[in-house]
Amino acid sequence: MSPSNKHIDFHKRTDQVLRGGGNKAIERQMALGKLTARDRIHALLDAGSFHEYDLFVEHRCRDFDMDKKELPGDGVITGTGTIIGHPVCIYAQDFTVAGGSLGLMHARKITKIMDHAIKLGMPIIGINDSGGARIQEGVDSLAGYGEIFYRNTLASGIVPQISVILGPCAGGAVYSPALTDFVFVVDKISKMFITGPEVIKTVLGEEISMEDLGGARVHAEISGNAHFYAPNELECFHQIKKLFTFIPWNNREKAERFPPRPPKPSHDIERVVPMDSRKPYDVRDVICAVCDNSDFFEIHKNWAANIVVGFARFDGETIGVVANQPMVLAGVLDVDSSDKAARFVRFCDAFNIPLVTFVDLPGYLPGVDQEHAGVIRHGAKLLYAFSEATVPKMTVILRKAYGGGYIAMCSRHLGADFVIAWPTAEIAVMGPEGAANIIFRNEIASAADPDAFRKQKVAEYTEKFANPYVAAAAGHIDAVITPKDTRDFLIHAIQIAGHKTESRPVRKHGIPPF
Ligand code: HXC
Repeated sequence: MSPSNKHIDFHKRTDQVLRGGGNKAIERQMALGKLTARDRIHALLDAGSFHEYDLFVEHRCRDFDMDKKELPGDGVITGTGTIIGHPVCIYAQDFTVAGGSLGLMHARKITKIMDHAIKLGMPIIGINDSGGARIQEGVDSLAGYGEIFYRNTLASGIVPQISVILGPCAGGAVYSPALTDFVFVVDKISKMFITGPEVIKTVLGEEISMEDLGGARVHAEISGNAHFYAPNELECFHQIKKLFTFIPWNNREKAERFPPRPPKPSHDIERVVPMDSRKPYDVRDVICAVCDNSDFFEIHKNWAANIVVGFARFDGETIGVVANQPMVLAGVLDVDSSDKAARFVRFCDAFNIPLVTFVDLPGYLPGVDQEHAGVIRHGAKLLYAFSEATVPKMTVILRKAYGGGYIAMCSRHLGADFVIAWPTAEIAVMGPEGAANIIFRNEIASAADPDAFRKQKVAEYTEKFANPYVAAAAGHIDAVITPKDTRDFLIHAIQIAGHKTESRPVRKHGIPPF
């Protein structure tokens, strides 16, 4: 073949692959409100930055007439590119090619790009849109999934891993996203389930739609499998880009520093928290009143809303924020909120992001449901995560810090570097009402006027313990400060803790209460 014919041949082969599953399949994809795999990559990465790998990889299956089928790129597009100027590894499954199903070579393309990411310290973004294991390839496809799960685990805590669910994600396929750090879903497009509606009908005789079983809302609000929910694909990509402004590229680096900006004047810290400790408020207003530009990027916004987690900046530096949410269930800790916060704390610790914790909670949620759901086991995850974290840890007690909740919310006893309290803080074993009822049960019962006697004892207990000064006198907190001094104190604490080093006894790894 002459050199010019070789060029013609190259363009012909390239065009063939770039056509994916063909016009009909692409039209079907678009009719469902979905972009094609290639368009998704281009929409997410910086313009013109994508470099594709393995364009000419072909499947090797010869069974079930597969030898007659061409599957361009074997149903997945892989490569590298940049997001806000920083390099990332990316793959996008192409549903127009055999339903994006995962065969041996498809999996090899993905694992190659994952190995690359781990070695070179780049985040991995996986765009999932697939019918799952390619049925014709049998155990080879299962092996492919196993190899991906293995690398997800190796990459964990080394490089950030992002999963975007933009189509079906069925069977074992859901476990790769579940092993990654952040899962993004899109309304009506994302579906995640282990066993689909057909299996449920056969085994359990129950009819359920794919949407009700494992649609975007289900995972963003009920199961907690998804961290971010978007109304459409472009908004989802916008969220991913925003996330990348807050996190570092690997565990050897810190997140990029931005120019410091004061909070917006509309957020007045003095007016957020009601004096009456039984009155709710939105703790996000406290966060926005102290962080740069009042810009708080919330994670898991619609799940376990009694705790709030997310990223903000203080003086330009990324901080992981954990805060009880008095507006929902009075901000109690329960099974889901403990899981949510523990996982976030571990991400921040792995990726050098200091933690600021805002405390206002009456304790753990009481009840048979919670006990039977394992609140002991799940609650312990949060104790473990805060204790294990060696990044700078700053804690601000706003109002209630009762019982186990006080300890769990990054108290000094779990290794916080700075603990400060507002004058409104109440640090005690439990609330005054409960405490008086227990301590003076007999006296209340035998009093001439039980109600008046109880009120008197509640007032005495409040006077003694519903303040920050008992804890301050014992040195459990470092300072009592007014709300308006909070931002300055936190910025100072973050600055002086910037070079914190904390060594622990050598071990292979700890055993958190998974
Ligand atoms: C091979 C597949 C496929 C698969 C879809 N296709 N899934 N080919 N293996 N797993 C093909 C279809 O045959 C079809 O090919 C094309 O992709 C588009 O699929 P449709 O069914 O027409 O699309 P749609 O109606 O949108 O339905 C999408 C779907 C459905 C819900 C995902 O295709 C489906 O239920 N697929 C099977 C899902 C599944 O059971 N997967 C295995 C899970 S078990 P043509 O040629 O007609 O265009 C698993 C184990 C992994 O993954 C364990 C790891 C530990």
